Amino acid sequence: MTSRNGRCTVVVGCQWGDEGKGKIVDVLAEDVDVVARYQGGANAGHTVQVGENTFILHQIPSGILHPGKRCLLGNGVVLDVLQFFQEHDALVERGIDVHGRVGVSERAHLLLPYHTALDRASEDRAAQKIGTTGRGIGPAYEEKAGRRGVRVADLRGGVRVEQRVREGLERALQRLGGSGDHLEEEVRTSLEMGGRLRAMATDTGREITEALAGGRRVLLEGAQGTALDLDHGTYPFVTSSNTTAGGAATGVGIGPTAIDTVVGVVKAYTTRVGYGPLPTGFDPEMDQRVRELGGEYGATTGRPRRCGWFDAVLARYSARVNGLTGLAVTKLDVLDTLPELTIATEYATESGGSTRDFPADTWSLESVVPRYETLPGWETDTSTATRLSDLPKNARAYLDRIEELTGAPIAMVSVGTRRSQIIRL
Ligand code: IMP
Repeated sequence: MTSRNGRCTVVVGCQWGDEGKGKIVDVLAEDVDVVARYQGGANAGHTVQVGENTFILHQIPSGILHPGKRCLLGNGVVLDVLQFFQEHDALVERGIDVHGRVGVSERAHLLLPYHTALDRASEDRAAQKIGTTGRGIGPAYEEKAGRRGVRVADLRGGVRVEQRVREGLERALQRLGGSGDHLEEEVRTSLEMGGRLRAMATDTGREITEALAGGRRVLLEGAQGTALDLDHGTYPFVTSSNTTAGGAATGVGIGPTAIDTVVGVVKAYTTRVGYGPLPTGFDPEMDQRVRELGGEYGATTGRPRRCGWFDAVLARYSARVNGLTGLAVTKLDVLDTLPELTIATEYATESGGSTRDFPADTWSLESVVPRYETLPGWETDTSTATRLSDLPKNARAYLDRIEELTGAPIAMVSVGTRRSQIIRL
């Protein structure tokens, strides 16, 4: 066993993604030395507000916006080479010093242009659409699990990697049933970036283990959310990786015992983008109102997010699946003007009973009727609160109830997009 004095924290989404993890990671990143992504790819969209500037990061950890922090992409990530360098170079153009700060796992799989083409074609053709982000995530993980993928480490062996990629492209063209001239060219461009990528290659597990042994602090940044986890989410309306805290260990190459703290991020209400059930969804009028209040449009695709009441059944399930040690509640300020708030505490089932457990049968979620309790709103601006005691009594009662129903202590409350708009407990 390796000795260590550092601390390792995981930040994980507890709903259907878009909980505001980018902001929470950004705040926590100030106190850490290394930030690593452990799964997903360019499907994520982490929005971070720094002063007057808004950054939307898809692949590079949000820690990059804090000078000097080391930022890693773990082996669990599928790395879209073109998108990655676009993002990397755009950061440089905006004056962020990224030099020597970004490391990419040698074991990470490459996401190539034919994965993106396959993703889009399969969504177009599917009778049962998932509503993916169209970023090639499913096909890239399919090839990884099918042992046909190409990894960063492979970029060393010219002939072998070219053959693997050619076979991948041929398989894709067969499935796509069309000509692939543009794909061939894009694939070539991706591979031309191989040298740049190799220069960033590292063993993320070793780096993190050594950092912890040296007393440094590490933050593992989740993308998407628990209800989108391939195993624990609303399958098949999920993403193709393990978004939950367990995925953090395998996704960077450390043992689970290296993790000290798991912070679960929940929005003060619920949103979902893409298809699949949303048991606490609002009626159309309220849906529109909260979408506008919260600016609920996808950071990656711009799609409107469906909105609903806080679902404590899902939050409690997420607390268990992730082993949460603390909760970060975001976007509380979005609810400032509502006269009444409602929380789902359990689901009524078709058999006439009720359940407090989030069901495995996704189709049953289409028809469950949530049982709600209503709390009075606070109808006061909370966006300047920096301590819990600054919040109106009804807002504190709402948070207390979330804490009680979820079973995880609240560690942070976010009341706006800026770094300063945070209450830390
Ligand atoms: P994919 O990850 O692009 O394959 O999409 C699968 C499902 O996950 C779809 O419902 C997407 O809308 C959803 N999804 C993927 N990434 C995100 C995200 O970062 N936020 C919210 N939903 C996401």
